[in-house]
Amino acid sequence: MGRAAVADIKGKGFSELDKETKTNTEDTNKNRNTTCSDSRGKKSRRQQKKMVHPVQRLFNACKDVFASAGTAFVPPPHKIQLLSALLDEIQPADVGLTPQMPFFSPQVTQRAPTIAYLHIHECEKFSIGIFCLPPSGVLPLHNHPGMTVFSKLLFGTMHIKSYDWVVDVPSTSAVVDPSQTQHPEVRLAKVKVDSDLTAPCKTSILYPADGGNMHCFTAVTACAVLDVLGPPYSDPEGRHCTYYTDYPFTKFPADGQVSIPEEEKDKVAWLQEREKPEDLMVVGALYTGPKIIGN
Ligand SMILES: [Fe+2]
Repeated sequence: MGRAAVADIKGKGFSELDKETKTNTEDTNKNRNTTCSDSRGKKSRRQQKKMVHPVQRLFNACKDVFASAGTAFVPPPHKIQLLSALLDEIQPADVGLTPQMPFFSPQVTQRAPTIAYLHIHECEKFSIGIFCLPPSGVLPLHNHPGMTVFSKLLFGTMHIKSYDWVVDVPSTSAVVDPSQTQHPEVRLAKVKVDSDLTAPCKTSILYPADGGNMHCFTAVTACAVLDVLGPPYSDPEGRHCTYYTDYPFTKFPADGQVSIPEEEKDKVAWLQEREKPEDLMVVGALYTGPKIIGN
């Protein structure tokens, strides 16, 4: 308090000063009460936030983020950020997983290792689930038509190869011998990601038209991936899961409409539709993590 303010108070009568002091004290108390209740409110909100389980928070956020999801829906950037931040924080223990669980044991078999899928939630707007891959498990190249997908590697190392369609060249028709295959058409795609991902790492996001909408996961070590799909696959709504084989660009002669510089040729590939791989075994397993309220 400055000198002028002290002089002002000294110049006032006691009653006036008393009234002012009383009013000031009341205000101060009011402020103190407000501050106390604010801080109590903040504390209780913090406690509540702590008490809400990370998977419940993820579910609640998905309900909001995908409220109007339909084919080709892309959430606004701030909501993408919110969902990624929630996923980034989720640990294997939050979903009831440990790398020692039987899903992740090496499998001695001639077939491709079996992958387990733990279903957490699915509605018309979004789905949440976990793929559990033993070492060498492969989720073959497949697409996510009109979908935005968040993938959080919970533990382990996984190789990701992903593609997006090349759209800035005329529709391509490479020359494929129709007698050699059920699906003679191939389409040019550009490589988006071709690298190993090791947990802990940030959430990967793919979009309807970019970010690597077609991807293949190969378990370098046992690993688990928490997937959020918005909207989920739906045959009636045209969001059918299609599998592909990828071929090097040099495998088929292009029809003359496509010209790829020599140094760029390893960054593109021909993708050809295929039936669901016969040796792909994805089995449903029980999610044993925390229950979600409102599921
Ligand atoms: Fe996928």
